[in-house]
Amino acid sequence: MKEFMPQENQNKKVQENVLAISAKAREEKAHNPAIINATSGTYYDEDGSIKVFECVKDIFNHPNYNNILTYSSVTGSKSFLDAVKKWIFGDDYEQAYPNYYFNAIATPGGTGALTMSLATYLTPSEGIMLPNIMWPVYTQMATNLNIKPHLYELFDEQNKLNLASIKKVAQELQTKYQKVALIINDPCHNPTGYSMTKDDYVGLIDLLNELATKTKVILILDIAYLDYGHSSGQITRKHFKLLTKLSSNVMTLFTFSASKTFGLYGLRLGALIQMTTLLKEADLFVSATSYFARATWSNVSHLGMEIIEKTLTDEKKKQAFTKEILIASNNLAKRAELFIASLQKYQVPFAPYVNGFFVLILVDNESFENEIAKKGAYGCHFGKGYRVALSSINLDEAPKLGDIIGQAYQKTLG
Ligand SMILES: Cc1ncc(COP(=O)(O)O)c(C=O)c1O
Repeated sequence: MKEFMPQENQNKKVQENVLAISAKAREEKAHNPAIINATSGTYYDEDGSIKVFECVKDIFNHPNYNNILTYSSVTGSKSFLDAVKKWIFGDDYEQAYPNYYFNAIATPGGTGALTMSLATYLTPSEGIMLPNIMWPVYTQMATNLNIKPHLYELFDEQNKLNLASIKKVAQELQTKYQKVALIINDPCHNPTGYSMTKDDYVGLIDLLNELATKTKVILILDIAYLDYGHSSGQITRKHFKLLTKLSSNVMTLFTFSASKTFGLYGLRLGALIQMTTLLKEADLFVSATSYFARATWSNVSHLGMEIIEKTLTDEKKKQAFTKEILIASNNLAKRAELFIASLQKYQVPFAPYVNGFFVLILVDNESFENEIAKKGAYGCHFGKGYRVALSSINLDEAPKLGDIIGQAYQKTLG
């Protein structure tokens, strides 16, 4: 007898192992503090507790229940969206980006923004270009919507963004589809920690403009880790200004995550922001994304919006938060420095890391991973590598973990 569930849904299985391993590592660490838990894409402070920014404590200490417990509007509050746009593009963004419409809608996390961008701009008969090394949820989002994933190589031989591969895949797709869409995760790419250079941006913009002479192009920029890039993301923010060189046949959609920037992981808040010079496209964005939101999650965390709005619209609070996130981002850089110095002692291969939560060890071997686990350390098997989350370890653990991984590498593969 046939099941109730259509066959295509029966084949949907969450392939990610990260959350399961993370839970196991957390449980073991609760009994044994010597366990090193490098599994979680959550920023933990040096004392092992989740980072709680002062602005978050503020709201919890002085809750305005009428604001935080009531429904918000479908798009999210205007002051929240304005504050997020200013945070990402600068207080003067309207002058810095003349002629551009920046429409935004609140979403449940960066995840909601990404899935909304795919669902709103692509149909089941179309495809999405994804990097061959990636956060696997992109593939799940696409296949869940019956959108076909097409992989491009992330790195070229110089370990820079592989523009030649993006071009090759995009040109093939232009013979099949009426538009090309691609996801780029920058800065602090998950799982490698790569951050694009100015040359990467300039090359990408030239390429997208070339492609845009044939079809429309959608660039989905996943900026979940923006504030953990160089100087808390200031360099990447400068690169965004280069996007004004894009032809109007290219539309950029930014997906923002409040999980990472404000440490609001469990509150589920983010935003999808459209950058376009075309009024018609701006109007379409507003109506179709609102419709999608109303029909799926309805509206987002009012509490999360309240925290961000209150922080970013008060100059003193904003300055204090800016300092706090810079400290966290610099501390992460210190962890990375210590960890990578240890890896290098043992010649462990890893993907080009610049900054961010993760380092990807380029070893795909079960005995290697078992050896690390035997020493009481946990990272995650990730694609064809082993991902270490620097976000969830401290400065003491960073070199220790590098040594454990180095010794496991020497023992099993060296
Ligand atoms: C690359 C990347 N993009 C987006 C997200 C979205 O996170 P959230 O939905 O919590 O905002 C994550 C979370 O881990 C991520 O790693």
